[in-house]
Amino acid sequence: MKFPDTRMRRLRNNDSIRKLLAENRLSTDELVYPVFLIEGKNKKDIISSMPDVERFSIDLLLKEIADVKKLGIKSILLFGVTDKKLKDSDISKSASKDGFVQRGISEIKNKFPDMVVAVDVCLCGYTESGHCGIIKDEYVDNDKSVEALSELALSYALSGADIVAPSAMMDGMVRGIRKALEDNGLKNTLIMSYSAKYASAFYGPFRDMAESAPSFGDRKSYQMPPSNSREAMREIELDIKEGADIVMVKPALMYLDVISKAKERFNMPLAAYNVSGEYSMIKFACKNGLLDERSAVMETLLSIKRAGADIIITYFAKDILRMINE
Ligand code: PBG
Repeated sequence: MKFPDTRMRRLRNNDSIRKLLAENRLSTDELVYPVFLIEGKNKKDIISSMPDVERFSIDLLLKEIADVKKLGIKSILLFGVTDKKLKDSDISKSASKDGFVQRGISEIKNKFPDMVVAVDVCLCGYTESGHCGIIKDEYVDNDKSVEALSELALSYALSGADIVAPSAMMDGMVRGIRKALEDNGLKNTLIMSYSAKYASAFYGPFRDMAESAPSFGDRKSYQMPPSNSREAMREIELDIKEGADIVMVKPALMYLDVISKAKERFNMPLAAYNVSGEYSMIKFACKNGLLDERSAVMETLLSIKRAGADIIITYFAKDILRMINE
């Protein structure tokens, strides 16, 4: 009797065998959970464009962090959200040590010293223009923006952030921040740079959440065009030269090829940001009964892992941990 050369189906015969032979596994250690901090006390907002994600004032955020810690989350990425926007000429106020983000960081680190606290470093949440840098003649001025970003990153690091994560896509931003850290004796603050950050439509829900949509124009003069991946390699290479410790590709799902290319090319810890639009479209589909949430979320995160990400930043972190823990 003739039989197939190889019976691949042996490898898939039951769940235990499939688990034994899994080439990629998700673990709690590699997930980063993004959290949103608002000003005030005892405040909690729901934003309809991001189901199951909330913004909290610091007292309630501390409770949320205690909850996610129980699930096994060991790292968070903090975003400050404020409606008190600043004129560009006042931007250094964002770097005050008494700012709500800076105070938030130190309260979180006081209460949870072993939680890794990464903080997004960008101006778009602070500026009246909603742009990631400082405007001069309707154009985002690179070098002035780098100065402001370096000052902001330093203030977060001085407040106790373990990782500063510059996301403004300004040239020389990592070097500026590294210099500010070194000049102030902060030798162990990590820089996780949003190295290859694309001008993506998939940030839409986040901009509702973070109140950070640009008031005019778009971000195409600083974020990358979706058509390019060699350019992403140059961006990553530059960030490594400038002193980044962790490099990032963002978004994740639309750019799995870029993640995979970066993984092959650079001996660096590689993060992928599974962004708000990627999250919400799947969440809404699950909530409407179009997809099975459990398998859809698992498949989504495994695709990012398989592409080569070492660190996955995802709003699904709580969901996936509940599944892993079950
Ligand atoms: C700030 C920033 C953005 C995101 C992370 N940091 C928005 C943007 O560039 O407009 C997007 C995150 C997400 O969509 O989940 N520059």
